[in-house]
Amino acid sequence: MTKPEIRVFDGLEHLIWAAASDFEQLARIRAIEKMPFTVALSGGSTPKPLYELLGSSTFAGRVRWPNVHLFQVDERCVPPDDAQSNYRMIRQAMLETGLLPKENFHRMAAERPDRENAAREYAQELAQVLRPEPGEWPRLDLVFLGMGPDGHTASLFPGSQALDEHTEWVAPNYVAKLESFRLTLTLPVLNAAARVIFLVSGVDKAETLRQVLEGPAGHFPAQLIQPAHGRVSWFVEESAAQLLKKSRG
Ligand code: 6PG
Repeated sequence: MTKPEIRVFDGLEHLIWAAASDFEQLARIRAIEKMPFTVALSGGSTPKPLYELLGSSTFAGRVRWPNVHLFQVDERCVPPDDAQSNYRMIRQAMLETGLLPKENFHRMAAERPDRENAAREYAQELAQVLRPEPGEWPRLDLVFLGMGPDGHTASLFPGSQALDEHTEWVAPNYVAKLESFRLTLTLPVLNAAARVIFLVSGVDKAETLRQVLEGPAGHFPAQLIQPAHGRVSWFVEESAAQLLKKSRG
């Protein structure tokens, strides 16, 4: 596993423009290869301005949207119009402009009471688009991840059961500290990705980020993201990077 690239940005604006241009570049490559560009989006607040930028007229002509398939990294077990819903945030930020064909957004139906079935069906949707070889993990072209102050990523929280899921592609996960369930892509799928970009902002994450990137391994879920055949980058807004040994451009 090569050491992850760490890029520190002075302000969220610069960070999201860098992430958006990586998205554009990878989308262009996949279009040239005549392959679908498959991306998984995290929820939370940091990526929202990125999704707004990608869904804006600025990027309308820069990306061949009919070739793009968007998936969710994780979802809260709430209705899709709930204020807590990651889908609702992504829909409002990126989908309402209509750039992406409706059938190219693959929503996690995490509101379903039969969470196991919902997880299995989402895995089938991943399989239909990514078409892995039998026995292979589905290989997403790009995954945008966030990191919480506790070092969680996706909906893989410290001590939660889904961290130990190494067979299923998608799993329900009970998050004790939130007293709620989530659906999440599992570590094997995240680690099968060709490209992972962490988007991290906020001074409240500085100490955890220092431990994740410079401390002993294996203490935080975010440290378990180590694609065997993929590239990981950390795009960090400067306040979250302030405790790192050296700022890296
Ligand atoms: C979620 C996200 C989660 C998020 C982190 C960081 O459903 O909440 O997928 O993993 O990425 O909590 O969130 P922020 O970027 O908003 O701090």
